[in-house]
Amino acid sequence: MSASATHRRATAEPAAPHPAILVDNVTVHYGEVLALDAASLSLDHARICGLIGMNGSGKSTLFKAIMGMIKPDAGRVLIDGKPPSKARKEGGIGYVPQSEDVDWQFPLSVRDVVMMGRYGHQGFTRRPSKLDRAAVDDALERVELAEFAGRQIGQLSGGQKKRAFVARGIAQGATMMLLDEPFAGVDKRSEATITRLLRELAADGCTILISTHDLHALPQLCDEAVLLMRKVLMHGPPEVVLQPENLAMAFGLDVLNRDIPDPDVPRRAVSKQQGRS
Ligand SMILES: Nc1ncnc2c1ncn2[C@@H]1O[C@H](COP(=O)(O)OP(=O)(O)OP(=O)(O)O)[C@@H](O)[C@H]1O
Ligand SMILES: [Mg+2]
Repeated sequence: MSASATHRRATAEPAAPHPAILVDNVTVHYGEVLALDAASLSLDHARICGLIGMNGSGKSTLFKAIMGMIKPDAGRVLIDGKPPSKARKEGGIGYVPQSEDVDWQFPLSVRDVVMMGRYGHQGFTRRPSKLDRAAVDDALERVELAEFAGRQIGQLSGGQKKRAFVARGIAQGATMMLLDEPFAGVDKRSEATITRLLRELAADGCTILISTHDLHALPQLCDEAVLLMRKVLMHGPPEVVLQPENLAMAFGLDVLNRDIPDPDVPRRAVSKQQGRS
């Protein structure tokens, strides 16, 4: 290699890093229902982003699209530049589902649920190694659930269940955590534990997307916020996103006299409504 080529290499600009999450014009229907309508979002690494929007605005659908659990009708999702299926196989994404999406009767102990985070680290036999067991013990300690390790997952309180799923992501070594309403029905102690853990994870480089209806807690928890109403209406600092006129847009409060469609109105009716404005 010539000296000039070496020089060029040494001084070349580093390649621009991929965003942690790229949601590019993603549209999702459930039959006639339009759940996401060309939603776009780009999230940088190691940020905590709050996702807010009214019931039915598409928050859980967005999480499922990011996880690759739902295939969009249009658009694409990239996790650190990779398709979600690849990112999931590499064990990079931790997911705390909305409580309603979990079968709590499933015969798994808290330890089993957290051990699921280690599957990607285990061989074909799925036999836990010493390292796997240590990672699970450590994660259970961090979420303050060590004493409940042997209990069936459905026999935990609401806040303890959320912490068990956070522990699964920690044991997994996830570089991204998606949390769908982790504070719903959770007391202040569990909320404080989860908030502290998320801050620690973000400080270690983990990217966090978290949906919540607790707008008061948002500025303390999040570096940025997204307003969703089938589309991303706004993405910015929490204090800007939480301005009353912006909340009015997302929550259908007609304080600015805008014509805001109901997200549960089927697609054809919605396009008529939008055509009117
Ligand atoms: N499995 C499904 N089949 C049909 N429609 C669905 C399904 N899941 C969600 N929907 C519809 O898609 C839209 C978006 O739902 P989604 O669950 O993503 O909203 P959300 O913002 O998470 O609401 P919430 O705050 O109540 O959790 C809603 O109109 C909902 O009724
Ligand atoms: Mg939801």
